[in-house]
Amino acid sequence: MGRLAGKVAIVIGGARGIGAGIVTRFLEEGASVVIGDMDEESAADLMAGLPEFAPVRFVRMDVTSAADNRRIAETAEGAFGRLDILCQNAGIYPWTMIEDVSEEEWDHVLAVNLKSAFLSLRACLPAMKRQGSGRMIFTASITGPRVSSPGHSHYAASKAGLVGLIRSACIELAPYGITVNGLEPGNVLTDAITRSRSPEFIAGMERSVPLGRLGTPADVANACLYLASDDASYITGTTIVIDGGQIVCESKP
Ligand SMILES: NC(=O)c1ccc[n+]([C@@H]2O[C@H](COP(=O)([O-])OP(=O)(O)OC[C@H]3O[C@@H](n4cnc5c(N)ncnc54)[C@H](O)[C@@H]3O)[C@@H](O)[C@H]2O)c1
Repeated sequence: MGRLAGKVAIVIGGARGIGAGIVTRFLEEGASVVIGDMDEESAADLMAGLPEFAPVRFVRMDVTSAADNRRIAETAEGAFGRLDILCQNAGIYPWTMIEDVSEEEWDHVLAVNLKSAFLSLRACLPAMKRQGSGRMIFTASITGPRVSSPGHSHYAASKAGLVGLIRSACIELAPYGITVNGLEPGNVLTDAITRSRSPEFIAGMERSVPLGRLGTPADVANACLYLASDDASYITGTTIVIDGGQIVCESKP
């Protein structure tokens, strides 16, 4: 029996990168999974690599749309009969210095990274309230809540805001048996990072991590699995840092 046997999960931003790691781990542990993403191609690639009868569905969606968030919640209940876990992992991390950030870019980053959490939470709440239980997990970052770097003003603000939402929501939703937590990954080596950062930059990031390597999607997925599992039933309103010790390192060794 897997640690999520019988559970139904939504993983938004699950088509690739960290989200794909979460989808894979949840399925391995017996969950049924609805993937929400705007990247149909990556979702198709991911699903093609899964076992033939894996209990998985895909909903093409934009996480900034309230209607799309309602649609994925309805799909989970329609396909699998219930909704136990929301994992809102979709996020973007453009790198722009404050002086160059347009209002449009600022609004877009805040919408994809922060408003998305509010919309997905609201969409999943009715089903979890009816059941009297639920797990909500949001992917934040160490960037914002703990540290930052040049070019990440909007990103850091969105992720710090997410932690504020997690704390508020945990109090409001506790009476319904719903826990609300977050993930704070450090630097995780995904295709998006490989594409957007130079090899020299990536090597520099590795040197700043006491454990000597960047994180993997599986590292983050394991923390997400823990928060989604029964082992974490008394944990709410908090975040887990998954960074190989990066934020406690005062200076590079
Ligand atoms: N990779 C890292 O080093 C790192 C570190 C800390 C936090 N994070 C966070 O982890 C999460 C995943 O990052 P990743 O590195 O796997 O990135 P990624 O780009 O590989 O994956 C993000 C996913 O979100 C989807 N997405 C983006 N905008 C969307 C939208 N409007 N609607 C629906 N889906 C949308 C993308 O299509 C993609 O599948 C993000 O929230 C990111 O901020 C990443």
